[in-house]
Amino acid sequence: MGRIVAVTNLKGGIGKTTTVVNVSAGLALKGARVLLVDVDAQGNLSMALGVRPRRTLYEVLVDGARATDCLTAVRPNLDLLAADESLLTAQPTIARRPDWPRVLEQALRPLRASYEFIFVDCGGSLTVLNLNALNAASDVIVPTTVEPFSLKGLEMLIAQIGRVKGSAGSLRAIVPTLFDPRRRQSVELLGELQTRYGDLVTAPVRVNVRLSESSALGKTIYEYDPRSRGAIDYAQLVEHLSALWGFAPQAAPAPAPMPAIPQTTRAPEPIPAAPQPQPSVEARPQPPLLEQVQPVSAPAPVVTGAGNMLSLSCPNCGGPLRRATVAGYRVAYCDTCKYRRQELAAGGRR
Ligand SMILES: Nc1ncnc2c1ncn2[C@@H]1O[C@H](COP(=O)(O)OP(=O)(O)O)[C@@H](O)[C@H]1O
Ligand SMILES: [Mg+2]
Repeated sequence: MGRIVAVTNLKGGIGKTTTVVNVSAGLALKGARVLLVDVDAQGNLSMALGVRPRRTLYEVLVDGARATDCLTAVRPNLDLLAADESLLTAQPTIARRPDWPRVLEQALRPLRASYEFIFVDCGGSLTVLNLNALNAASDVIVPTTVEPFSLKGLEMLIAQIGRVKGSAGSLRAIVPTLFDPRRRQSVELLGELQTRYGDLVTAPVRVNVRLSESSALGKTIYEYDPRSRGAIDYAQLVEHLSALWGFAPQAAPAPAPMPAIPQTTRAPEPIPAAPQPQPSVEARPQPPLLEQVQPVSAPAPVVTGAGNMLSLSCPNCGGPLRRATVAGYRVAYCDTCKYRRQELAAGGRR
């Protein structure tokens, strides 16, 4: 049975849809069968994926159509149960039904066996359908901006999850989004978030204009600019969630060692690293293997590997270092202290 993952926050415009699109596309690229469900009448998922679905969730929830008949295949391994503005008129109809809190769960039940992950993209307020999404969810992911009021909003949301689900135990990750590492206040608030919620807080997704450009053009970030910071941050989140959920591709490529070779290729342009709760990447000694740029002949796949363990250990805390090749970069990262180091696999950075 696939996981049903609600991606929610009480606020709009904070990166929920962007997170749903790029996490699910990353998992689909790794070989997972993924379904996206839009319960936001704005229908942003369709736009962000560049499709115009003929059939939508309205038909399933109001007209009683079978969910399997209303899906749109949007990418390999990635299907969509879309929404549009008709969902606004559906909500009062649904609210009159005695079983209203469970209509989405019932509609998705026949699909759960066909997918490893079902991501539900919620709207930015407490609608009947957002409550349905929480009820249906086995896992909840909360993207949040790192601003003065967002911590208070997060508290309210977590209390709400507790009320709906009996406990907040299904909350799997808090993803700081639209993060600007140059703003001191953001860095301090990120620290506060990490102190309060510990391991639930993932590495932040930095502000990156390529992310807003990609969704405006109906492309995932891996399609639009696989070497952008946005692609790297989301691919790292995909690796984190894959490890958390124990998802590994069926035919995972054997982890290739990163041999220490003479540095014959131009060094990659440094990428501003998202601050982590420890000294900056630049300030710390780097493991020699990761400083090498390995020329490769074939273009690197967008996302490979499943965060496989290497024999390398983290130079910051000594914990195990995970590795993935994402969007043309080799990324090595530590789940224990959030240390991260990335190097270009081939070619120049755009
Ligand atoms: N990390 C980011 N950097 C830059 N722009 C972003 C980032 N994340 C999201 N955006 C943009 O911010 C806007 C709101 O994001 P969206 O994912 O639609 O939020 P929500 O679903 O919470 O309303 C969109 O235009 C999106 O492209
Ligand atoms: Mg949205």
